[in-house]
Amino acid sequence: MITKPKGCTDITGNDSLLWQYVNGVVAEMMRNYNYEYIRTPIFEVSELFHRSVGEASDIVKKETYDFIDKGNRNMTLRPEGTAGVVRSYLENKLYASPDTKKYYYNGTMYRYERPQSGRLREFTQFGVEVIGSNDEIIDAEVISLQYRILEALHIGNLQVNINTLGDNESRENYKKALVAYLEPHLNELCDDCKERFKTNPLRILDCKIDSDSEILKNAPKTIDYLNEYSKERFNKVLRYLDLLEIDYEVNPRIVRGLDYYDHTVFEIVSLDDNNASVLGGGGRYNKLIKELGNIDSYGIGFACGIDRIINLLKEMPLYQSIQKEIDCFVMYVSEEEKLHALDIVQNLRLNGVVCETDNLNKGLKGQFKEADRLNSKYLIILNNEDLQKGLVNIKDNATKEEEKVDIDEVVDYIISHL
Ligand code: HAM
Repeated sequence: MITKPKGCTDITGNDSLLWQYVNGVVAEMMRNYNYEYIRTPIFEVSELFHRSVGEASDIVKKETYDFIDKGNRNMTLRPEGTAGVVRSYLENKLYASPDTKKYYYNGTMYRYERPQSGRLREFTQFGVEVIGSNDEIIDAEVISLQYRILEALHIGNLQVNINTLGDNESRENYKKALVAYLEPHLNELCDDCKERFKTNPLRILDCKIDSDSEILKNAPKTIDYLNEYSKERFNKVLRYLDLLEIDYEVNPRIVRGLDYYDHTVFEIVSLDDNNASVLGGGGRYNKLIKELGNIDSYGIGFACGIDRIINLLKEMPLYQSIQKEIDCFVMYVSEEEKLHALDIVQNLRLNGVVCETDNLNKGLKGQFKEADRLNSKYLIILNNEDLQKGLVNIKDNATKEEEKVDIDEVVDYIISHL
């Protein structure tokens, strides 16, 4: 038998109900916050990710799905959504209008990772990118939107871990201090960190292998190397978050694994989650737009992993309570009754009633069973005798009460009883 590729998932049954629920909440919240849906390609030219996510990032070094297409072009399946949105913004000259662009997306991403719980090769993110405003009110909006979506999904005990990398000057000063601090301890770090020391020393701070080492715990903090502007900017973001009543903790170890960030960076976790997996993260990336398009602009965004959210929701009572159900099951036996069933089912469906009928030539007993399996609220039981009088038999499947109803009134009857 052919099986699915390693690190991928099939979404079926109750899991797919949960996915639809998550997607519905996300779309509704995005609408409330006035974010526009954007859809960019699943693959892009490889250079886009090398120049944005960064040559030195784990994603580009080890995790991208690269291929050469039939035209001999180097292509990459997108490992994340930000680069594609920024490319689209630049390519379509969306900067020509002066307003701030607020986009959201929801789609599959690809990273060649070692599969484990919450870490897949094909996974789905929803996320936002806001391009064109450097106002701290947007940093606070983006962080609170991420928080409020997870809250609306009934994920409790949320905590935002927030930090700032500051502007270029602050970041360079910090990098120097960090390098000077780490150099004497280099031999005590893992092989990956020795490599990171040369290519991107900041990344050493969020190394998973060395995360408990005293060396990293005592490392200099970005916050102590901020210039006045960066410090004031960060304090404003925190002030706005206080006003919005977002639970956050300033965590100097948050530096994020992608190269494009400056100023605000953040990740969100649920303290109820035993795996303590990061549900989402993001940050500001003002210099990325300049790097990719030579345009002075500003950007900030976040992305949340839906697979991780689903893993968490599955442990909650909500999952136990969701079940497939339909409004109505139409039952028949003879060919004559079947013609009426077909017509009634179509009328009900076109009027927004979720309904089903037999398609396996089952007898009435089998159809009753099927209606129960589908958790049908009402049963419409057809028989030739009633039909000749223009009537159908409708049974409330919970109270078991039955009523004869005029065939032309079926839709109104069901809708008024739902
Ligand atoms: P990221 O931290 O790489 O950021 O990913 C965001 C979220 O995607 C993670 O917190 C996690 O929930 C989910 N995720 C990442 N990798 C996997 C995986 N292999 N399997 C399952 N879930 C995964 C970004 O992608 C940035 N583009 C976020 C951003 C938007 N920054 C600014 N704008």
